[in-house]
Amino acid sequence: MTILVAYSTKTGNTEKVANAIYEVIKEKATIKKLPDASCENFDTVIMGYWVDRAKANEESIAFLKTLAGKKVVLFGTLGAGDVDDYYKKVCDSVENELPSDCTLLGHQLYRASSIRLAMLRKQHAEDPNDAEVSKQLEDYEANKNRPNAQDLLHAQEFVVDALSE
Ligand SMILES: Cc1cc2nc3c(=O)[nH]c(=O)nc-3n(C[C@H](O)[C@H](O)[C@H](O)COP(=O)(O)O)c2cc1C
Repeated sequence: MTILVAYSTKTGNTEKVANAIYEVIKEKATIKKLPDASCENFDTVIMGYWVDRAKANEESIAFLKTLAGKKVVLFGTLGAGDVDDYYKKVCDSVENELPSDCTLLGHQLYRASSIRLAMLRKQHAEDPNDAEVSKQLEDYEANKNRPNAQDLLHAQEFVVDALSE
């Protein structure tokens, strides 16, 4: 099995998870940050994206489209909580970007800090009665120290399990 860990990151959260995953499979894997990653010489790709407006970020979407015929493990990081089945909607939209002949071995989201927190605090201060902003702020505040050590351990176990299937 030839394994590539590829990830995209803007503020470092996805990179943290990718590095933790790589740590437990490094004897048999290569790690690359987008856009400097190509899946060409690998049969299995572990791909980390970050969530941008409820989808994978643009750079990740372009890479997902190149994964025809590969075994794929997906993970994403995001700032929001799971209100109204939001995580399922995000996962579905990301999986829809994969070529139809991929074999998806697993898909997991990790809560993470976000630079959107400052904007939400400001919006909440301006209108404390906006229930939607209040709920979003609560979730983003709760995620501000993540991914934490437990998340990283979870990611390592999740990937080892997915690869053994
Ligand atoms: C421009 C922008 C848009 C974002 N949109 C969302 C979003 O729609 N939903 C969400 O849950 N998090 C959103 N986030 C939060 C990021 O997904 C989260 O902080 C992620 O961990 C960033 O990954 P990185 O640190 O690897 O760049 C957004 C962040 C930015 C900067």
